[in-house]
Amino acid sequence: MRIVLIGPPGAGKGTQAAKLVECLRIPHLSTGEILRQAQAAQTQIGKQAALYIDDGGLVPDALAAQVVAERLKHPDCQRGCLFDGFPRTLVQAEVLDQLLAEHRQVLDLVLNVQVPEEELVQRLILRGRGDDRPAPIRRRFREFDRMTRPLLEFYAGRGLLQNIDGVGTMDEVTERIQQAVGGAKGLSEKA
Ligand code: AP5
Ligand code: MG
Repeated sequence: MRIVLIGPPGAGKGTQAAKLVECLRIPHLSTGEILRQAQAAQTQIGKQAALYIDDGGLVPDALAAQVVAERLKHPDCQRGCLFDGFPRTLVQAEVLDQLLAEHRQVLDLVLNVQVPEEELVQRLILRGRGDDRPAPIRRRFREFDRMTRPLLEFYAGRGLLQNIDGVGTMDEVTERIQQAVGGAKGLSEKA
């Protein structure tokens, strides 16, 4: 299966992805994680990404696309993939379409994890990652509203979007996600 996880900063994309990839046995492709690793390793990509991540801005589409294109070349992605934090713009959604077409693959499901902003802020402040500071958090929310929200309509139009209530215990959210995935899996197996 190929699944995209969309949600504002702190919605639980990474938390839920870790559980889901274990049960679906597919790789977890988090562009944020890959970019942070590149940043820590001080690679060329990492140095470029740092200019944006630290302030809460989005990295350029071409950079995100490069990272995903590289990762999709690995043979483990033939079984499927869970995209976390990609695509984040309409341009990236088009890139994903192209990449999947090149690999003769299709997208099965897009999950939109919804959590009110007050709770997101609490979660992020508690976690305290490098970009979990008030100004970058505000910027990340703005970028989500401006650049990523339009994707919801894009994928709803294709009949791929399912909204997930991201409030509750981690297990409760996992249960909701598994139900949505189970439904989509049944549909894709019938097709
Ligand atoms: P990215 O790493 O994707 O960060 P984000 O979207 O801001 O989201 P987070 O990772 O902060 O939150 P999450 O939804 O994964 O939640 P988590 O599970 O960690 O991107 C970072 C940056 O990289 C971007 O700002 C941009 O610069 C760049 N970037 C990445 N991809 C890009 C792209 N495609 N294009 C351009 N730029 C890109 O949970 C958060 C906290 O809440 C944790 O502490 C967790 O334990 C807790 N929690 C989780 N679930 C629950 C629950 N149910 N109840 C209570 N607490 C919970
Ligand atoms: Mg994350």
